[in-house]
Amino acid sequence: MFNLVSQDIEEYSEEHTTPESDLLYRINRATHLHNLNPRMVSGPLQGAFLSLIARLKQPKHILEIGTFTGYSALCLAEGLTPDGTLDTIEIDEELEETILQNFSQSPFHNQLQLHIGNALDIIPTLHHAWDLVFIDAEKTEYDGYYDLILPQVAKGGLLLIDNVLWNGKVVEEVKSNDKDTHAIMAFNDRVQQDPRVRNLLLPFRDGILCIEKL
Ligand SMILES: C[S@@+](CC[C@H](N)C(=O)[O-])C[C@H]1O[C@@H](n2cnc3c(N)ncnc32)[C@H](O)[C@@H]1O
Repeated sequence: MFNLVSQDIEEYSEEHTTPESDLLYRINRATHLHNLNPRMVSGPLQGAFLSLIARLKQPKHILEIGTFTGYSALCLAEGLTPDGTLDTIEIDEELEETILQNFSQSPFHNQLQLHIGNALDIIPTLHHAWDLVFIDAEKTEYDGYYDLILPQVAKGGLLLIDNVLWNGKVVEEVKSNDKDTHAIMAFNDRVQQDPRVRNLLLPFRDGILCIEKL
């Protein structure tokens, strides 16, 4: 994962952040031991940020696109209201067993709903008014997720979009065949022009675009 700050600063920041729970620690460790591309996991710093936002927001309905091993879902779930729900969508069916095993150990397991399949197909089948959305999946599909999700976001609802600085490539010369960078840049520009929202691009980790629905 690209970092805007040095390894030393990252470590110092982690040392001055409330440690992740034992369950999150074990999931992060197991992800690094057993999964391909383990650096996709949010990890302790970004996880602490997600849970802080969720606890402040106290959402009734959370939607996540891109579950991976369930780390970020469990961070977000910390802010759910007692009757709240979190729906999370993962396209890779080989991850299902791991995700369900990880969820089963969480105090929020009854509030979590995993959907295996393509988010572009599954989002239209879900009918909650979303208070908090975390998008962290296929970069060329960010535009499509946004089109489907924004009309279903409650007024004042918040979307957090990960990797919008894409290893810093958004400010470099982009190769014509680099579809991911082109897609992310077009998405960021589009949100900046969207009168339905207020947005903040947070230069944290790989860039998190925070979008508030007006
Ligand atoms: C960066 S990882 C998610 C990391 C996770 N949010 C975390 O922080 O621990 C991206 C995940 O999105 C999934 N994904 C990619 N395209 C998808 C799609 N169209 N629908 C649902 N999931 C998708 C990938 O299989 C991968 O597991």
